[in-house]
Amino acid sequence: MSEPQLWNDVDDYFTRHLSSDDDVLAAALRDSEAAGLPPISVTATQGKLLHLLAQVQGARRILEIGTLGGYSTIWLARALPADGRLITLEYSPRHAEVAERNIARAGLDSVVEVRVGPALESLPKLADEDPPPFDLVFIDADKANNPHYVEWALRLTGAGGLIVLDNVVRGGRIADLSDTGPDVLGTRAAVELIARHPRLSGTAVQTVGSKGYDGFALARVRD
Ligand code: SAH
Ligand code: DHB
Ligand code: MG
Repeated sequence: MSEPQLWNDVDDYFTRHLSSDDDVLAAALRDSEAAGLPPISVTATQGKLLHLLAQVQGARRILEIGTLGGYSTIWLARALPADGRLITLEYSPRHAEVAERNIARAGLDSVVEVRVGPALESLPKLADEDPPPFDLVFIDADKANNPHYVEWALRLTGAGGLIVLDNVVRGGRIADLSDTGPDVLGTRAAVELIARHPRLSGTAVQTVGSKGYDGFALARVRD
């Protein structure tokens, strides 16, 4: 059996036993696909990981950069208390519209707010509102801007905050120094920023599964 096929089968096994999609999550993926959105949401096992990380954080406030159809948003928002808040930033009005419907069907529209526009415009506006610190920031948008997103995440979190970046491995491209694509350069700059920043303590986890070979970077804001 080829390795990707095996990873897929194992992902299916863990998904069935540990993180199975319910109707609402399955409908979110189905409607995202029907609307022509790219099939790049986190997987179910990854979504469950985000959900558990938010719970371990005791998160009351979550910031997401890159909504797509709201699949990861739903996993994260379900970890929040009823008076919790998730703000998710999305460039594409079309993606945001699909996400709003999926989030409403999940009964999370009173907890989740989708803000449309380039995140580097939405983030300064958000900071101007002087919001209480976010407990978790999930960064999953245009990878070239990853270092800027880490800087903003630092500014918008407090001690003990958790920053999670998706897609830091990209089939190994991160470590192939001859690869100078803007997404890889952005992700490398974000990892190096996490590594040298005095307020951050970070690591990365490689993942395989139905989305192939990729990974997450995790960084905790020091006390
Ligand atoms: N987090 C989602 C997947 C996000 S895909 C999930 O796992 O379910 C990346 C999303 O980032 C896309 O919807 C894309 O439109 C959005 N995006 C790209 N550039 C952006 C930008 N500059 N600002 C905000 N969102 C952006
Ligand atoms: C892409 C983006 C993602 O956030 C992801 O998880 C997978 C793929 C992409 O732009 O190709
Ligand atoms: Mg991603």
